[in-house]
Amino acid sequence: MKKIALALAAVAGLAATGAQAQNYPARPITMIVPFAAGGPTDVVARIVTDHMSRTLGQQIVIENVAGAGGTTGITRAAQAQPDGYTIMMGHMGTHGAAPALYPNLKYDPTKDFAAIGMAAGTPIVIVAKKDFPANDLKGFLDYMKANGEKVNMAHAGVGSVSHSTGILFNSIIKAKPTMVAYRGTGPALNDLMANTVDYMTDQIVNVAPQIQGGNIKAFAIATPERSPVLPNVPTTKEAGLGDYQVSAWNAVFAPKGTPADVVKKLNDALVKSLDDENTKKRLLELGGVLPSAEERTPDGLQKLVNSEVARWTPVLKAAGATAE
Ligand code: MLT
Repeated sequence: MKKIALALAAVAGLAATGAQAQNYPARPITMIVPFAAGGPTDVVARIVTDHMSRTLGQQIVIENVAGAGGTTGITRAAQAQPDGYTIMMGHMGTHGAAPALYPNLKYDPTKDFAAIGMAAGTPIVIVAKKDFPANDLKGFLDYMKANGEKVNMAHAGVGSVSHSTGILFNSIIKAKPTMVAYRGTGPALNDLMANTVDYMTDQIVNVAPQIQGGNIKAFAIATPERSPVLPNVPTTKEAGLGDYQVSAWNAVFAPKGTPADVVKKLNDALVKSLDDENTKKRLLELGGVLPSAEERTPDGLQKLVNSEVARWTPVLKAAGATAE
C-alpha cells in the first residue's frame, strides 16, 4: 500500500511541477545581481531584463546582493528554490575566477546551475582618475614602477572581474598597488571620478560614458581591436602591452534543477531580448559585445563556464592572487 502511495505522490509531484512549469511565470521573477546598483553587472541586467519581462509577461525584479566579489549573491541564488522565480546575473568573475580564489566557495560554477545564456561580452579597459600624472599607458607604467604601493587600485571584491583582471594586469606589469575593495565598480567609479582612487581595470559598459565625457582617463582596451564607442582608446597591443588581452562576459543562470521547460522559456526571452533593436542599441552604445548564437544557448554558456574556470585557475595562481 505504502509503495502505491509513494508512486502516486511521485506522479502527483511530477504533475505539479509540470503544471507549475506550464503556467510559468505566474508571478514576478527575482534576478539577483551580486554587486551594487549602478555597476556593469547591474546595468547589463537591467538592459536585458527590460525586454525579457515583456516576453514573459511578468516583471523581473532586480535584487542587488553585494559582497565577497559577487560570491555572496551567487551563493544565495544557487540555494534558491529551482522554480524559475529566482535567477541571477553572473559573470566571468563569479562563474570563472571565483573557484581559484575561494577554496571554500559554496557553489561549483560547472555543476550547480542551470545555464540560461550569455547577456553581453564586456571588454576590459584600463582607466584612471583624471588627475593621474600620466597621459598614456607608457607614462602610467613608468609612474606605477616608481610609486608602487602608494598607488591605489579599485576593484569589486576578491574574485570579481575588476579584481581578477586587475591581478592579471598587475602581474604582467610587475606592480604591487594598494588594493581598495568596493561593493561594485559603480561605487568605485564614483571615487575614480572624485580623484580619491587611482585606477582600475573595468568592464567597458561601466566606464565608456565617463571616458567619453572626459571625466576619467582611459589608457588602453585589452581586446585585439579598438571599441567602436572608444575609437581614440588604443588597444593594449598598440600601447605596447600586447600580453594583456582580456575580456569579460555577463550571463543569466538559474539554480540547478530548474525544470527544462522553465529554462527554455527563460532562454527564449533572453534571445528575444538580444534580438530586440532597443536592447541591442543600449548594449552596443556602452561598448557591449552581442553574444554569438552559440553563447546564447544554455549548452554554449555551460561550455564557456567550464573553459573559463579551467583557464582562470592557473592564471590567478601564477599571478599570486591571494585566496579569501
Ligand atoms: C566586477 O566583477 O568587477 C563587477 O562586475 C563590478 C560590478 O558589476 O559592479
